[in-house]
Amino acid sequence: MTMISGNIQKAIAILNQNDLIAIPTETVYGLAGNIYSEAAISKIFAMKNRPLFNPLIVHIHHISQLEQLTRYIPDKALVLAKAFWPGAMTLVLKKNSQVPDLITAGKDSVAIRMPNHPVALALLEQLRFPLAAPSANPFGCISPTKAIHVEEYFGDTLRMVLDGGDCESGVESTIVGFEGDEPILYRLGAISVEDIAAVVGSVNIKNKEETTPDAPGMLLKHYAPLTTTHLTTDLNESIKSFAHQKIGLLLFSKKIDDPQIVHQEILSENNDLKEAATYLYAAMHRLDKLNLDVIIAERVPDIGLGKTINDRLERATKK
Ligand code: TXA
Ligand code: MG
Repeated sequence: MTMISGNIQKAIAILNQNDLIAIPTETVYGLAGNIYSEAAISKIFAMKNRPLFNPLIVHIHHISQLEQLTRYIPDKALVLAKAFWPGAMTLVLKKNSQVPDLITAGKDSVAIRMPNHPVALALLEQLRFPLAAPSANPFGCISPTKAIHVEEYFGDTLRMVLDGGDCESGVESTIVGFEGDEPILYRLGAISVEDIAAVVGSVNIKNKEETTPDAPGMLLKHYAPLTTTHLTTDLNESIKSFAHQKIGLLLFSKKIDDPQIVHQEILSENNDLKEAATYLYAAMHRLDKLNLDVIIAERVPDIGLGKTINDRLERATKK
């Protein structure tokens, strides 16, 4: 069994041995290792079964650490860091030669964020190195928002999950890179496009470009349950099309009355998109354990964090 514990000193000891632990963040749990340890970083890729071309996010606890990692910071990057750090804002910046190529998959840029979680920050402050941490799930699977999700994925192969409770945002960080000095949004996430635009003006979104993915983790199929999942705007029609099958529903705010439905997950009874994002992955994890024939997910309103939720639902339902 993986140890699930809040013991930060134990976590530090394991990381200092070039081994991995899972860490809590406000978005999702991460599978973390020392960015300067080739052994630790190789193990991250191996444990996740993650392709080596898919670079990792570096987690820091102080904005001054940007100097150890980057060689150029556009003005708007600093504005974003100051507005949203600690928080679910990942900035992709020109890397300097200190950053190992394994972290960045040979790219000239490095993704960096400062998580807004007291346990993660306390850990990072006591380490002599930043932590690389992708989401703590096997490649392509649903991200973990509870310590127990991580244990279910990795069991004995992972020594420790540093327990920080359930993740508050529940979806991954928003990733912003730069073309010249202008911000480009690479991945929709826990900070909405509208909130970013309020700070730096309108931003281009490249989230859906699959041909030359600047964020290769934005592969079309991702965040996916094992159960066949279907996305719809017309619930009744979709339910009809799966007649005589065991159906589970992933709904925004209202249950429906239909004897054919085995289980229903409601993301927010108050029609609150932030709350819906918080519970999205936990609901997907639960539905995926019910041996259903199909999960039918309902699109949510396409504003604010609704855009992020719809993005994840689309990726979960791609064949
Ligand atoms: O909320 C989060 O961001 C979580 C927590 C643990 O911090 N982490 C996370 O990591 O979602 P991961 O590895 O699952 O997703 C990282 C994404 C990938 O899509 C990757 O391609 C992209 O960041 N990325 C990393 N470095 C990049 C770079 N230099 N240029 C473009 N994209 C990059
Ligand atoms: Mg991930």
